[in-house]
Amino acid sequence: MPTKVSSVAALASPREAFNRPNASFDNRLRPLTFDDFTGQEKVRARLSLAVEAAVQRGDPLDHVLLSGPPGLGKTTLCYILAQSMGVQVHATSGPVIEKASDLAGMLTSLNRGDILFIDEIHRMQRAVEEYLYSAMEDFVIDIMIDQGPNARSIRLDLPRFTLVGATTRSGLLSSPLRSRFSINARLDYYTPAELARIVTRSAGLLEVGIDEGGAAEIARRSRGTARIANNLLRRVRDYAQVKAGNVITARVADDALGLLGIDGTGLDEMDKKILSCICESFGGGPVGLGTIAVSVGEEPDTIEDVYEPYLIQEGFLARTPRGREATPLAFETLGLVPGARRGAPTLPGFR
Ligand SMILES: Nc1ncnc2c1ncn2[C@@H]1O[C@H](COP(=O)(O)OP(=O)(O)OP(=O)(O)O)[C@@H](O)[C@H]1O
Ligand SMILES: [Mg+2]
Repeated sequence: MPTKVSSVAALASPREAFNRPNASFDNRLRPLTFDDFTGQEKVRARLSLAVEAAVQRGDPLDHVLLSGPPGLGKTTLCYILAQSMGVQVHATSGPVIEKASDLAGMLTSLNRGDILFIDEIHRMQRAVEEYLYSAMEDFVIDIMIDQGPNARSIRLDLPRFTLVGATTRSGLLSSPLRSRFSINARLDYYTPAELARIVTRSAGLLEVGIDEGGAAEIARRSRGTARIANNLLRRVRDYAQVKAGNVITARVADDALGLLGIDGTGLDEMDKKILSCICESFGGGPVGLGTIAVSVGEEPDTIEDVYEPYLIQEGFLARTPRGREATPLAFETLGLVPGARRGAPTLPGFR
């Protein structure tokens, strides 16, 4: 089955190193069936039920929106849907579709039941997005051909297809688009126990031995993310192969991850940079997202999509109407004492 390969720029941070898609490695470990897909029980149950019902009726699957932070399995689920429906995936991504005619070209080349997978669907241009409305709802698309006095609109009938949209930011989707997805599935971070199961399965595929302690150690430092767990496993496997007889125990994992500078908190460098910026430079906050972004040298969007959800879920950070605030747990983890806040400088004679 064709699988889209994301292009990857040069590495800039450990987060990118561990969270970027690695095509061949990802493909090898990617579960192909719902049974192999660990965790996300509710999402799995809803999607497999929808597939079963559609197959029974002989209908194409309804449109599916998959949302959630990077590396949790959105692309994987899209291919599992295709595999279980027995249809082809045609993959593209929101920013790549520049013109309505690009979209029309893709839609008209689909066969009945095929999946059009639009990754990063929140980044699609509004003008193009509007063409999707009638395509999704009525399976027709009206496009303008020619210009000036010869301009006319023609209506193209489309096969009954399934749109699978993936987004890290479902909040940015317009409501007309969102409402056209009848299945809306949100992926959450994995628990350490689920990650340990993912790591154990991947170790089997990579033919490296692993015990419970080894899997737990990798899981604990994977930031709730399947892709990070697999990427850490790959690094630990190198170490185990060269230094430990190709078996990963807790000790081996700990040594290997220590060598990589990944400590036991499960936080990576950028997580810590964000927290220490809020705790040390802004006395714990509240501080605005834009200010944090400038201080740590990262895009506000990336902080909001990639870093914050985990920090908030794990209780390191709180989002308040006045900005981001670090929690006592953040201070404790950084080895800091929540001290007096750094207020505005007071001039002599003023209070
Ligand atoms: N539930 C799971 N069980 C086992 N492996 C998983 C699971 N979810 C994801 N993976 C593994 O994690 C890797 C990353 O998953 P995937 O590419 O589907 O994430 P994504 O949500 O599409 O991320 P992005 O937003 O960056 O595109 C996959 O190669 C797959 O091997
Ligand atoms: Mg993806």
